[in-house]
Amino acid sequence: MEATAQTTMTIETIDRQRRYVQEQKEKGNGLGVVFADAFLRGMRDLGYKNPAWALAEMMDNAFQAAAGSVAIRFGFERGNKTEVKPDFVAICDDGNGMIPEMIGYAVRWGGTDREGDRKGFGRYGYGLPSSAVSLAKRYTVYSKPRDGEWHAVTVDIDELAAAASDLKKTEALLSPRPATLPEWLLQAPKGDDALDLNSLKSGTVILLEDLDRLRSMGGWIKAESLRTKLLQHFGVIYRHWIPERRIVVDGRGAQSVDPLFLMEHARFSTRLQYVRNAWRHASWRLRLPAERPGGCESVPRCCPRIFSMPIRCSTEWRPSPS
Ligand SMILES: Nc1ncnc2c1ncn2[C@@H]1O[C@H](COP(=O)(O)OP(=O)(O)OP(=O)(O)O)[C@@H](O)[C@H]1O
Ligand SMILES: [Mg+2]
Repeated sequence: MEATAQTTMTIETIDRQRRYVQEQKEKGNGLGVVFADAFLRGMRDLGYKNPAWALAEMMDNAFQAAAGSVAIRFGFERGNKTEVKPDFVAICDDGNGMIPEMIGYAVRWGGTDREGDRKGFGRYGYGLPSSAVSLAKRYTVYSKPRDGEWHAVTVDIDELAAAASDLKKTEALLSPRPATLPEWLLQAPKGDDALDLNSLKSGTVILLEDLDRLRSMGGWIKAESLRTKLLQHFGVIYRHWIPERRIVVDGRGAQSVDPLFLMEHARFSTRLQYVRNAWRHASWRLRLPAERPGGCESVPRCCPRIFSMPIRCSTEWRPSPS
């Protein structure tokens, strides 16, 4: 019985291999080192822990391009009356931008002008395309270098997969074209968002247009929860960069979030009076005598900082007086 099952499985496997090889040959354009269509499908599943980590790839790129401001904006189709869930997400920065040809390279896996670089965030040329396709099936990269005009490349995963074994078609699809930004991005920004894309000297906009993956992630797709989660996440990972570099999500500025409450400008720092009391108190109690070589006694000061997570500024809690 078992032998029969094994034989069947083996025959099926070989038959499947034959069919597969035949299908690939019929595509008829020769083989590169990867099967581009399968690669594209696979890269969509490359595991970012959550959308905030994926979008952080684009923030890294913006900051590495010397952006002073990065604004994440949510866009809505005309028919989306409730505007509860965004139809588009745009990551806009006022960094150095890209020359047109570079946009076409940047959307390709491995396309980078800083290969192997150890000084900044990026070095592999995978961040932009991987993060974009992990959230959206279709996206456009617009960019404008200083003294240049806006150009764009649109990546549509279905179109690219269909053209995968045809280099000429792929190249045509990923060629930069002169472009204007969508109208909704040129309108006056709201809230803390002060990035005026009409007058930008240089910069980049990555517009995620078909958010098929984001839509399927419960807890992330509603504008309000997306904004809250992104502000929290960016507040932690870019806490040393804020406020010199501005991060705004859907009109709200990100504030540094320091898990150790050590940064004066970080969120909740104004509500830390109890922690400060505890700190002073504890540092007084923890003066530890120690022997120095030569017999001279010194008193090193130990200044622990006490905090709780999440912090509760309860009026009932006070540092003990003893
Ligand atoms: N916002 C941006 N502004 C200017 N250039 C950008 C921007 N985003 C991407 N680029 C350009 O596109 C290239 C590809 O970006 P990508 O994130 O894929 O790779 P990387 O940052 O070089 O490396 P890594 O895979 O480690 O992130 C970058 O090397 C950079 O030249
Ligand atoms: Mg990168």
